[in-house]
Amino acid sequence: MSSTEATQASIKKGWDLYKSIGSPKFIVAPMVNQSELPFRSLSRKYGAELCFTPMFHAKMFSLDTKYREKIFETTPQDRPLFVQFCANDPQTLLTSAKAVADRCDAVDINLGCPQGIAKRGHYGAYLLEETKLLADMVSLLHAELDVPVTCKIRVLPTEKATLDLCLMLQNSGCSILTVHGRTRDMIKQKIGPCDFDIIRKIKETLDIPVVANGGIETLADVKRVLEITGCDGVMVSEGILGNPAIFSGLDPEHAPTPIQMAREYLELVKEVNTHGSKVAARPHLFKILFKELTVLTSVRDFLGQCLDFETICTVPDVIEAEIKKMGEEKYQEIYDKTPTWYMRFQAKKKQKEEEEAKALLENPVPVVEQVEEPEGLCGLFGGECEPEASEYETESDAEEEKTA
Ligand SMILES: Cc1cc2nc3c(=O)[nH]c(=O)nc-3n(C[C@H](O)[C@H](O)[C@H](O)COP(=O)(O)O)c2cc1C
Repeated sequence: MSSTEATQASIKKGWDLYKSIGSPKFIVAPMVNQSELPFRSLSRKYGAELCFTPMFHAKMFSLDTKYREKIFETTPQDRPLFVQFCANDPQTLLTSAKAVADRCDAVDINLGCPQGIAKRGHYGAYLLEETKLLADMVSLLHAELDVPVTCKIRVLPTEKATLDLCLMLQNSGCSILTVHGRTRDMIKQKIGPCDFDIIRKIKETLDIPVVANGGIETLADVKRVLEITGCDGVMVSEGILGNPAIFSGLDPEHAPTPIQMAREYLELVKEVNTHGSKVAARPHLFKILFKELTVLTSVRDFLGQCLDFETICTVPDVIEAEIKKMGEEKYQEIYDKTPTWYMRFQAKKKQKEEEEAKALLENPVPVVEQVEEPEGLCGLFGGECEPEASEYETESDAEEEKTA
């Protein structure tokens, strides 16, 4: 087979896969400790059309049967499902991928993790420049695995480097490509906006299905991103953690309240009843009930200190009792002014700026020198700040670590 024929065959494989799973547009991102089985079930109930598992470590998965059994929980109803691995060795990746191939629709390679742990472990976004290694991993899975291989990347600093990378992945046998429109350096304070323009160019350049990821809070954002990028699907992470019904299109009157949603989620955890799903419960409640817990700080502290799942399950009742104590009207007044989980960092930043401006008004300091803002800086956030979502690790997770 010539290389063009091979590429055509792998493009067909990509579209066959995409169509065989119902041409999903609404996709739940891989999220360490957060896209686990009960949360996937909840997301599916409210409109998610494809879910990814959290990232699993291919080497540990291939060597340690206990890790494998503990970390990969699924059921026959949990489909369509892509299992994600981080890896830096083709053979190890293949061994792990073969161990899950009968319970998923595709195996995804994480090429987007920007964290220090990925740098030290030599995986995720730190492999993006290692063209030969990536080609070897993708082509081996493409040739040897019973299900297709897909990739999730971050973009590179230049358009050319990004498009070359994407073409290389497609030509190596990647069936579906997910693109997070930020570079590896865009994390924490340096997060900045998601580049949907480059995602659109990738979609125009490639022939396989492309999924857009990054910076999506609402269903209106989902629709906007599908339109401006022309992508085949949209993957959501932080947005769905705060609102598991994001894809449902339910108006607030008909959508479950966060307290009802938390109860529903906890019931799903009880059904699965595994250690892994219970461990994920506390960080999920911090996000689903973010506004409630921001108003009722004593319940937030209580959840932070909950050591066992049974106590965690009492949190919705405790919230309702505390609302009664505070008085519904007063509670609602504060609640309405509280930012959502997704907008938490932006709101904090705005509050800090307002406090600084107020302090300056009350205590003006003499202006010594007028410094001009460098050109381009004003438009840094395109007029609209993105939330500072720290990938793989969130404020409530850090909070939990403090209290654990
Ligand atoms: C709690 C959390 C865990 C994450 N874990 C993973 C992961 O396991 N694999 C991965 O490729 N990306 C992971 N990500 C990144 C997301 O998949 C996504 O690319 C990123 O958050 C940008 O999308 P968003 O703006 O919708 O949040 C994680 C993000 C969060 C918030």
